[in-house]
Amino acid sequence: MQEGLVSCILILCLVSPCLCLKWSNFGVETEESTYNVLDYGTNGNGESDDSNAFLSAWNDTCRSQGIANLVIPKGKVFMLKNLELKGPCKANSIHIQLFGNIVAPTKDEWVDDKKDLIIISNVNSLTIDGGGYIEGNGNTWWERCKDCTRPGVLRFSSCNDLSVSSLNLVNSPRFHIAINNCKNARFFNMNINAPGNSPNTDAYDISNSKNVVFQDSTIAVGDDCIAINGGCSYINATGITCGPGHGISIGSLGKNKDYETVEEVHVKNCTFKGTTNGARIKTWEGGSGYVRNIIFEDIILIEAKNPIIIDQHYGSKNANIEVVSMPISDVTFRGFEGTCAKEKAINLNCSSNGCFNIILDQINIVASNPKKKAQAFVTNVHGIVQNVIPKVYGMLE
Ligand SMILES: *[C@@H]1O[C@H](CO)[C@@H](O)[C@H](O)[C@H]1NC(C)=O
Ligand SMILES: *[C@@H]1O[C@H](CO)[C@@H](O)[C@H](O)[C@H]1NC(C)=O
Ligand SMILES: *[C@@H]1O[C@H](CO)[C@@H](O)[C@H](O)[C@H]1NC(C)=O
Ligand SMILES: *[C@@H]1O[C@H](CO)[C@@H](O)[C@H](O)[C@H]1NC(C)=O
Repeated sequence: MQEGLVSCILILCLVSPCLCLKWSNFGVETEESTYNVLDYGTNGNGESDDSNAFLSAWNDTCRSQGIANLVIPKGKVFMLKNLELKGPCKANSIHIQLFGNIVAPTKDEWVDDKKDLIIISNVNSLTIDGGGYIEGNGNTWWERCKDCTRPGVLRFSSCNDLSVSSLNLVNSPRFHIAINNCKNARFFNMNINAPGNSPNTDAYDISNSKNVVFQDSTIAVGDDCIAINGGCSYINATGITCGPGHGISIGSLGKNKDYETVEEVHVKNCTFKGTTNGARIKTWEGGSGYVRNIIFEDIILIEAKNPIIIDQHYGSKNANIEVVSMPISDVTFRGFEGTCAKEKAINLNCSSNGCFNIILDQINIVASNPKKKAQAFVTNVHGIVQNVIPKVYGMLE
């Protein structure tokens, strides 16, 4: 039986090499199906809720065999009030092609403030691209709801082998993209945009995830461009232009005495332009766990206010020397060049237990305002300083 199949495939390959490519191991054809949201009764007028039509289209996509494509066509605006795309799926891989645009309802029309606009969970081998926009209508929230619960626009939860590229996300009420419990994810050629004064509009908020790459993207938001939270390892960011925004941050970690870890983070070839912070690590007093093996390198600064920061007293007004913070070690800041908009170009503020093996190397930061002088502050830091401007005093061995 098996032999018969194999020779059959061999003959087919000889007759038609093209056809052969469509056949995978031992004669199982890789099916490919395409579903278009327009075939499920969407309005695409930007005003009436298309969530149910999207969900029906998703159900068929998720249940199909082989490779499944879900097309959201160009030239239409789809209003989604609440969409949960759940796996696991039968399809081996799913490609969502967002050519058209998606718009969130205004605050008053939002279905459930505790639910993000689009939640994708337990879907593996998912690719999303297409150049479309997702407009979060955050301006209907920010003023009226500074301290109340505000949702984000896109959440990935337990999605492995994820690729997201060429999307425009604008004006989320809260974070733009949350990533939780995902392995092997790549986000590239993304454009994420919200006003610099919009509250908590992180571009990316990532937790409990591994092997995640952020690449070649432009981010301008009102909070962190990338916030790397507890449970993350092997996170890379390269070719990110961030600003306005709060920079690329690890943490905050250890709030409410939590145990949290972050390790193997590599930020390279990024630009911080008009950001309040740049490369930042922030931990609360009293937390446990660790932050280690972190590299920030080849960073261009254009009027970043606080470009290099470690803060182990995050959230405290006065350093409490009795209470220590989780250990931070093996952190390298290398190859920073450019201007800072305030005096504290470098501020490594560790708690009394100290930060260890912190390397400052080839750094040249000057104040953008000639009346101000860039300065470096280090407290309880053990490490090495090489070729650093401004001059660093007080680094411990
Ligand atoms: C989609 O599938 C889910 C789970 O099978 C089901 O509960 C839901 O009714 C389906 N929705 C639509 C719109 O087909
Ligand atoms: C992250 O960057 C490091 C250092 O450049 C590299 O060795 C590693 O392969 C990168 N990881 C991914 C997932 O791209
Ligand atoms: C650095 O990032 C920029 C985008 O900001 C990109 O165009 C360039 O190719 C990157 N360079 C390297 C060496 O990766
Ligand atoms: C270090 O943090 C403490 C607590 O927040 C603060 O009081 C102190 O001013 C900080 N040091 C520097 C140099 O910023």
